[in-house]
Amino acid sequence: MQVLIAPSAAAVGRFAAGRIADVVRRRPDAVLGLATGSSPLDIYADLARQVAAGELDLSAVRAFALDEYIGLPPGHPQSYHEVIDREVVRPTGMDPAKVRVPNGFAEDLEAACEEFERELAEVGPVDVQILGVGTNGHIGFNEPMSSFASRTRVKRLTPATRQANARFFDSIDQVPELCLTQGIGTVMEAEELLLVAQGAAKAEAVARMVEGPVSSSCPASVLQFHPSATVIVDGPAASRL
Ligand code: GLP
Repeated sequence: MQVLIAPSAAAVGRFAAGRIADVVRRRPDAVLGLATGSSPLDIYADLARQVAAGELDLSAVRAFALDEYIGLPPGHPQSYHEVIDREVVRPTGMDPAKVRVPNGFAEDLEAACEEFERELAEVGPVDVQILGVGTNGHIGFNEPMSSFASRTRVKRLTPATRQANARFFDSIDQVPELCLTQGIGTVMEAEELLLVAQGAAKAEAVARMVEGPVSSSCPASVLQFHPSATVIVDGPAASRL
């Protein structure tokens, strides 16, 4: 695992975007793994800047999102399908037809998970997987005690994660209780993992991920086992290392 401490939160995004842009310049139809949450937003903003400046073309890129809430109707502003479209696909000129988000509104959720895994197996492996980390060490929506062998599946969100994500909704009651998430086993198949974290609130999770024992009590600690994982953090997020 490589740990880079960037001079500012914005620099975390620029560094990570630079790594992704390098991959796409080498391989214009690279497969990207997309994450939601606030942590990767600077990455997407910097990729959009490079595209607008004519330095980068993401129109041939294929992409898979990590997770999705269950039960939010298509078009709901907080469904991850919509968030990915708004924050990533449209600003960076990706082709929406080449972007897959697990279908959290499917009648048969098990079948939706299987279909997502099948498409990922056909198109993948993911060249670069972007990740954030929850304050409890979750990656995607793989909450503590998730199996390291897990695949895309239905999960129940912990009260802490629902509370953390309540800021995106009018009240916590509106935060779904269930989600679909790529499994840790699925995530670990990416060629390269790029995890970003900013701010002191992430310091403990970052320390457990980087220096703690590899344990499902901190799902992100599994990155220690990945042959090509890079953690990019700002000073406050690195403060417990
Ligand atoms: C969310 C997402 C994760 C994200 C994490 C941290 O619940 N499912 O993919 O990495 O929690 O979110 P944030 O970046 O907003 O702190």
